[in-house]
Amino acid sequence: MLIVSNWKAYIADTKTAKALVAAAKRATRSKVQLIIAPPAPYIGLFTDGKAPKSKKLSFAAQDVSLSTGGAATGEVTAVALAGLGLTHVIVGHSERRAMGETDDVILAKVQHVLANGLTPILCIGERQRDPEAKYLSFLRMQLAAVFTPLSPRDRGRVIVAYEPIWAIGKSASDSIQPHDLHEMVLYIRKVLADYLPSGAKNISILYGGSVEPANIRALAEEGQVQGFLVGRASTDVASYTGLIKALS
Ligand code: PGA
Repeated sequence: MLIVSNWKAYIADTKTAKALVAAAKRATRSKVQLIIAPPAPYIGLFTDGKAPKSKKLSFAAQDVSLSTGGAATGEVTAVALAGLGLTHVIVGHSERRAMGETDDVILAKVQHVLANGLTPILCIGERQRDPEAKYLSFLRMQLAAVFTPLSPRDRGRVIVAYEPIWAIGKSASDSIQPHDLHEMVLYIRKVLADYLPSGAKNISILYGGSVEPANIRALAEEGQVQGFLVGRASTDVASYTGLIKALS
């Protein structure tokens, strides 16, 4: 089971950042694999350019530039991230899509991340649910935009994070129900089978949206996900530790 912490911009001091990473290090004996995505300025505090010491804890970026370097003020390149020893990059988070990132940009970022030897965590998710279940074809389109152009080999390297926007940033009681999550995971895997006829079962599907210590276990058991992308609850040592314990 995997927990990806998306610190977003919640963390704004090194003391808290270090305390959270210390908590993750204390937990590396548990069965859970941990990935932490800090805001860009903090990444170098925890990575030294080498491969992670333990497969149980590694670091990700919350976004990446399409720039390959040079005259691009303010951009954080994939080469720089790979050089720091990061392993994963979150691509297409709904908060970035809301800032204007299109499916084309997201595809280009996924390809760029893969070309630099990093693993993309591709976020998809509907804004709301409609009685006609049009959100299902919306999700299919979000997946098609990225999976259609990729080579079969690259398709198999993408992690998919299902994050319904209506469930993000609330509390466990407003999150998706475990049974509904299981249905969504089955649907997403069925769509992926169009692109990876024999390999769809090997794609990791994560869930994100108001995951807390109170609901993570039920979502893992009934939802049949391979892990979680957690925002707010991953930014406080007590609740972060609670998430890990609940899955251990
Ligand atoms: P949340 O965020 O856990 O705070 O709902 C999840 C996400 O947006 O990745």
